[in-house]
Parts: sequence; structure tokens; C-alpha cells
Amino acid sequence: MGQRAITKNSLFYGDNLDIMRQYIADESVDLIYLDPPFNSQRNYNILYKDESGLDSNAPLVAFEDTWHWSRQTSEAEFEELKQQGDKLAELLTALVSVIGRTPLTAYLVMMSSRLVELHRVLKPTGCLYLHCDPTASHYLKIVLDMIFGAGNYQNEIIWKRTNNPKGSQFKDRKYGIYTDTIFFYTKSEMYTFDLDGIRQPLTPKEISKKYPKEDERGNYLEYPILRSASKGERPNLVYEYKGFTPPKWGWVVKKTKLETIDQRGDLGWRANGTPYRKYRPWEDRGVPVGNLWDDILRIQSNSKEGLGYPTQKPLALLERIIQASSNPGDVVLDPFCGCGTAVQAAQKLGRTWLGIDMADFAITLAKNRLYDTFGLEANKDYICITAMVMSSCCSAPPTKAKTSFLR
Ligand SMILES: C[S@@+](CC[C@H](N)C(=O)[O-])C[C@H]1O[C@@H](n2cnc3c(N)ncnc32)[C@H](O)[C@@H]1O
Repeated sequence: MGQRAITKNSLFYGDNLDIMRQYIADESVDLIYLDPPFNSQRNYNILYKDESGLDSNAPLVAFEDTWHWSRQTSEAEFEELKQQGDKLAELLTALVSVIGRTPLTAYLVMMSSRLVELHRVLKPTGCLYLHCDPTASHYLKIVLDMIFGAGNYQNEIIWKRTNNPKGSQFKDRKYGIYTDTIFFYTKSEMYTFDLDGIRQPLTPKEISKKYPKEDERGNYLEYPILRSASKGERPNLVYEYKGFTPPKWGWVVKKTKLETIDQRGDLGWRANGTPYRKYRPWEDRGVPVGNLWDDILRIQSNSKEGLGYPTQKPLALLERIIQASSNPGDVVLDPFCGCGTAVQAAQKLGRTWLGIDMADFAITLAKNRLYDTFGLEANKDYICITAMVMSSCCSAPPTKAKTSFLR
């Protein structure tokens, strides 16, 4: 496999299949986020301003999302996958036989080769998040099931990226598409995951709904301070407090704790003489994150975060994934890193990162981003490897993002 295992922050310019095979060792990565082309059958362009600040008329293709069978790519990768003689090979052979050598099957072969490599480099405790959309998500899930095992499928996350989808149902004669899909798979049952760390604080509207009552200390919710009969008898928690003695199930807390709650103003009494605890919004641990993510909007055209790279994802999306599925110091890999959103999020959260992209604009933007945000310079503060002919991007020193890219 000729691997020179890299475990330092690194940006690679080249095809991720070659890079992974050359540089990334087996079971060396903790978390993978991939946001590959979605098989949209279109090109993604960049309009940019030249050095004089004028808009260039000719858009440049950032990357292509059109797929076809060729001897060097799909056929060669398909042959290689077939030689494995496993379930994935059987699945792909069946799909090619039923659907034919179409753009879709060329895309699935490309994705399969890379997902096999990603599975190889992932640690046994590792997690993988595959970002896609309904164009091919139903096929990709079967491919992932073959490679990771259906039992290691954890979630389909639906990311509501917009409130205003492009194109309308009136023009398209179908419903507008607001969402992307993110599949969450793990390599085994023992994986890194901390849902508590990504709970979302309540909004002011949610607070007044959930905590409707108010006193001099602020909003509160009436919460039981007496144990319920279903929990059984607890003689040691049956004691008298301010003239009230509960039934044999007792108080929820010992007397000293009850006194503390009362002293800070969090014990209330109903008109019928029964006590309750005043539960406050600041004690609330927030809302657990479910599989519908509708609180992070895609990059807006006027957003400060926007670098003008088509399909750039919001930092908040990557921060959530990285926080939930890795620990500080862990290795995060984004093999289709674009302008480096996952790389920036990983650097911010103290993870080691590996980013790969085969578009020179993408790598240049990622480098500028690392320099502008953290002052990091290629080949001084992180490794930058060019595995692509005709590149100037990795040899050029970082500049303070003079070139402004437009959507
Ligand atoms: C959807 S974009 C990723 C955007 C990224 N998540 C961001 O926030 O900027 C997909 C990227 O995959 C890259 N790409 C496509 N095929 C690749 C390959 N075989 N190896 C490396 N990068 C590839 C494209 O150049 C493009 O930048």
C-alpha cells in the first residue's frame, strides 16, 4: 500500500483515492466527513474578481459533477472492486447489469472505491458522515451498508439548509427541495459519540413556553419535590419540613438539600399546602439534537463566512459533527474538503485535520482561510502536499485573501 502515514495537519491537492492509498495508514482516522459531488450532472462555477477588483466575465469551473464511464476511471475502478469478490462487488455488478453503464453507475463506482478506502483508514472507534442529497442517497445507503455493515448505520440526518429553495414547485411541477441528507455510520458498536456536548440552548420563546410561571427570581416550572408512590417507600426521606410531612414515599431529596433549595427561593407551596420545586431555565441542559437539523442555514450570499466557493457548507454544521463524534486531538479527515470548512472547524476545536481536494481553487481558498483565520502557513504550520500536475497553488505563499471570489 506504500503508505507514508501522516498524522499532522495536512492539506492535499490531488485525487483523494490516490492520496488515501499513498499517505493515510489503516485505522488512523477518528472521524470522516465527506461532502462529495452529488451526481447533479452540472458544473459548479466560480466568478472571481481579478487583481484590479473587476468582476471577470468568464466563470471558471470549480469542479464538475458529471459522470461517465471511461477506461481510466470507472472501468478500472469497477474491475478493481469486482476483484474483491465481496458483497459490494456483487451489488455493483448487479446495478451495472440492471441499470447499465450510465452516469449514475459511474458515480456509484467512483463513490464505492473511495468509501472502501475510507473504511480502511477509519479507526475501529471511528465515525463517518456522508453528506449527499436525494439524487443518489438511496443508492449510497446500500453501498454504505455493504461496506460498513447495515448494523453500523446510526442515523439519516436531514439538514434543512434553506427556507427558500431554488426553483419553485410552480415552475418545476414538483415540491421545492429544502433538505440534504447526511448518513451517519460507524465502524463498530464502540464509537465516539457525545450528544450532551451539542445540546442546543432554549430560545427566549421556548423558555417562556416551557417555564410559564414567574416570581422575583424569574421564570420557573413547577417540578415535583415529593417522590411518587410508584417509586416505593423510602423511610429515610420521610421527615417534617415547615409543618409538612409527606406520605411514606418521602421527599425527593434529603433535608439539608431541601433547606438549600428553600433558602435560594426555589421551594413553592400550593394553596392546598403541598410543596413543589421551582425549576429554573438556567438549570435546563438544553434541547437534545435529533436527526432533523433545521437550525443551521446554508451560507447566505451576504454572509461574512461565505468565500464564494460553490457548495461551501456552514461552519456550524461541521462544528456540530466534530463535537459530537470526536475528542480534542483526534484526527478528522475530509476527503472532498472544498474550501476547507471541516478543516477550519477541526482546527478551531483542537482536532488534527487532513483535507483533500482536487480543485486548485479549493485548496487555494482553504490555505487562505487557514492563514486569515488562524495565521497558519503552509509547510510551516501544516503540511501541504501536491499530488497533481500543473499546480501552482501549493507552492505559492499564502496571501491575505486578496482575491475575492463571488458566487
Ligand atoms: C461539494 S464540494 C465540497 C464543499 C466543502 N464541503 C466546503 O464546505 O467547501 C465537493 C468537492 O469535492 C472535490 N472533489 C471531487 N472529486 C474529488 C476527488 N476524486 N478527490 C478530491 N476531491 C474531489 C471537488 O473539487 C469539490 O471541491
